[in-house]
Amino acid sequence: MPGHRGTAEDRFGRAAHSRILPRIRIGALAPASLAALCACGGPQSTLDPAGPSAAAIALVWWWMAGAAALVTTAVIAIWLAAMRRHGLPVDAAQRSGRRWIVGGGIVLPLLAIVALLVFGAPAGRHHLPWPEAAGSPPPLRVDAIGRQWSWELHYPDSGVRLRNELRLPVGRPVHVHTQSRDVIHSFWVPSLGGKLDALPGRTLVMRLQADRPGSWRGQCAEFCGLGHAHMSMTVLAMEPAAFDAWLATQRPARGESR
Ligand code: CUA
Repeated sequence: MPGHRGTAEDRFGRAAHSRILPRIRIGALAPASLAALCACGGPQSTLDPAGPSAAAIALVWWWMAGAAALVTTAVIAIWLAAMRRHGLPVDAAQRSGRRWIVGGGIVLPLLAIVALLVFGAPAGRHHLPWPEAAGSPPPLRVDAIGRQWSWELHYPDSGVRLRNELRLPVGRPVHVHTQSRDVIHSFWVPSLGGKLDALPGRTLVMRLQADRPGSWRGQCAEFCGLGHAHMSMTVLAMEPAAFDAWLATQRPARGESR
């Protein structure tokens, strides 16, 4: 019978489908997870912090990722439960709907915003150029000047000027003063801290610090024209003695723009 044959095919088709699908999902999930994990490291990763400012941001990020995963899982679980629930009287269904709107639409976002403020505000404090405690090394001042499409890094105390290269001593706070020669740029070294706009006609200050020697990549984080994607810099954190020695060799270049 055609009907009988059709049903058997459906059954066969569904059974085969249900066996194949998990394999496809697992097969797709493994490389996707690997790719996602690879993005956690490297010279330009917020999730591989090399200083206190970046570490504070990474901590907030992991809490947000954990909370988002929990909320997503809970929403999927509730949705599956709701799909199986039938035959609720209309007024009971309306009451339940209102409860979910108040709980999930007002209370949950309020809690999330308050938690974000409680965790996020202290993370932002790390970036502010607070006065140093007595006995700690004075901060190094670096002027980061953005232009289409490169970064000028000036060390006003020694007169050294670099282009697309920032060197800093390990363990000493650096106060980065951002400016712009033309449009709005954004100074960003993900491994060391957050972003700070470089504005024409105005100077902003951010505190950064590297806790270990290394080489990282900084990238302009504000679209500023055709060359935006290539407006990057190399960031080198050096041991303090090596940094001082390097600075001494650069001093004769005082006043010159390299
Ligand atoms: Cu400068 Cu984007």
